[in-house]
Amino acid sequence: MGKVKLFRCRICHEAYIGEEAPSRCPFCGAPTRYFIPAEEWDLSEFMIEISDVSKTNLEAALKLELSNTAFYFCAMNAAEEARDEYGYAKFKALKKVENEHAEAIVRALQIKERPLEAVPCSKDFKENTQEGWEREDRAIKAYSKFAEEAPEPLLKQFFNALMEIETDHLELHAEDLKE
Ligand SMILES: [Fe+2]
Ligand SMILES: [Fe+2]
Repeated sequence: MGKVKLFRCRICHEAYIGEEAPSRCPFCGAPTRYFIPAEEWDLSEFMIEISDVSKTNLEAALKLELSNTAFYFCAMNAAEEARDEYGYAKFKALKKVENEHAEAIVRALQIKERPLEAVPCSKDFKENTQEGWEREDRAIKAYSKFAEEAPEPLLKQFFNALMEIETDHLELHAEDLKE
């Protein structure tokens, strides 16, 4: 076994212990290149003034993330009730990642955490996967626009990372819809 090190994710700020940075952040799903060695972490990099357009877009992103978190939570419970282990594991993982995104946005906006409002879902795995696909598709389109509009390089990077992560989710759903 090699020596472990501490890495930190620039998207969700969580720390990861391992020999190498992971291929995807276990918390927010960001790809490897968003990790840096924890000792290089510089908090002042994240202390930026946020433009009005980015504030509006971060608020919209927060709504999307909270709604998607609540949707996946519902889908997770439906799968558990149906004793569908695969569906349960998938929707639980997605719920955790989307919740991490909501938390990252709350931190960027320096606001208080918002409570989750329940979102309905189907009892059926395929239907929930289809709706998941549509939700990810909407998020990807919104984040692509927000990244383009962001005057702050840091927020451009943030929205681009979210776009990449939601694309992973979209592809996962697409695979499950094939069968
Ligand atoms: Fe992360
Ligand atoms: Fe997300």
